[in-house]
Amino acid sequence: MAAGHTPRLRDSGSGGGSGPGPGGHQVTPQAGADRVHRLPVGGLAGLLRQGAAAGAVNLAVGTPSWPRTPPELVEQACRSLREGTNQYETPEGSPVLRERIAAALPGRPDPATELTVTAGGSEGLCVALLASVDPGDEVIVLEPFYENFLSAIAMAGGVPRFVPLRGPGWSLEPQDLIDAFSVRTRALVLNSPSNPTGSLLGRAELELVATLCQKWNTTVVSDEVYAGYVYDGARHLSVAEVPALADRSVVVGSLSKSHAVSGWRLGFLRAAPAWTDMLRRVHVATTGGAAAPLQHAAAAADLFGPARWDPAPEMQQRRDRAVSMLERAGFDCTVPQGGCYVMAGISGLTDEDSPDFARRLAAEAGVLVAPATSFFARAAGGLRHVRVAFNRESAELDAAQQRLETFARADRAPKSSVQPSERA
Ligand SMILES: Cc1ncc(COP(=O)(O)O)c(C=O)c1O
Repeated sequence: MAAGHTPRLRDSGSGGGSGPGPGGHQVTPQAGADRVHRLPVGGLAGLLRQGAAAGAVNLAVGTPSWPRTPPELVEQACRSLREGTNQYETPEGSPVLRERIAAALPGRPDPATELTVTAGGSEGLCVALLASVDPGDEVIVLEPFYENFLSAIAMAGGVPRFVPLRGPGWSLEPQDLIDAFSVRTRALVLNSPSNPTGSLLGRAELELVATLCQKWNTTVVSDEVYAGYVYDGARHLSVAEVPALADRSVVVGSLSKSHAVSGWRLGFLRAAPAWTDMLRRVHVATTGGAAAPLQHAAAAADLFGPARWDPAPEMQQRRDRAVSMLERAGFDCTVPQGGCYVMAGISGLTDEDSPDFARRLAAEAGVLVAPATSFFARAAGGLRHVRVAFNRESAELDAAQQRLETFARADRAPKSSVQPSERA
């Protein structure tokens, strides 16, 4: 048991009214399982409350206000409920939905044996880690990371090993990755385009990953939930397209951001048949399947692939607006290659740490951003950055821009031309 964790089983005689557990120990349910205590505690709740109370424009979380949910999806969902699609779907997911998703993925996986529909990418991540990692195994994570990677690793009892991405473009240094691998490495989590940095992994990086994963017999869990948002003519490269990774990778996908249905909880896992068998066993043991009427609705609306639904060009315009409004206000941005977040440096604006700055920005400017501290293993790594989501309606970006301009003007203005001694 890791030091500092509350013991799960306590010796009998401590009172509290709990019954005897296995081996005659008293079980104290209040203590909870060790894995609960290893889950990261979300740091944004207080700030979100403060922002809501102040009527701030919320650019902190990735919940999309743009794109709008496609009306076809909403119509099909209503129809599907009325038509009586209200019972269990086959656990691996609606066959038609799997067909549709498969047709839009590179290399067109076999929907019967290589795709599983999950309750969002979040379930997909947990299932992938639970299926590939045993307690005590090391899992490599590129830092900064999406916070839920640590949750999924903790659920599986894995031990994260962090590889720093380096500025200014948050790129991966080959030697850093090489040094992180060892006999203890069971899995590697990738995320391209990245939340929070917006960076993409290219062919050279994925070839290196393939070489290392073959050498150390490691599985890749590749979070590609932002694959539809890639800019400036770049192309997203999936691990499934790298031949040496095809049999040792699990791709996590999601409709939450691509189709603005984060509340529907629809995602998917793509993996070779042997892996898919194992993933499905865990999936059956966890959620047992995603919501049937919503799967049918997504299948019927058939909005997969850029020929049917492609918000990326307009999202790129929002990215450009977000970067230019932030730079004008004094933030230092690396232009994201994909996804819907900008990591914005605050050193040119303030000496405050990012959580203090974010609180002040919410209170004084009415704009809510996420301090980057929760994307690093040690908060210190994220003290000089905030993450800004740009999957927002134009009106929200307009309001944020205007508020940031006012804030920057006030911040740059001399605080007072009258010295305290002159006021007497
Ligand atoms: C990188 C990444 N992966 C996975 C998810 C989870 O998405 P879902 O809503 O599909 O569970 C998110 C959500 O923000 C994310 O940013």
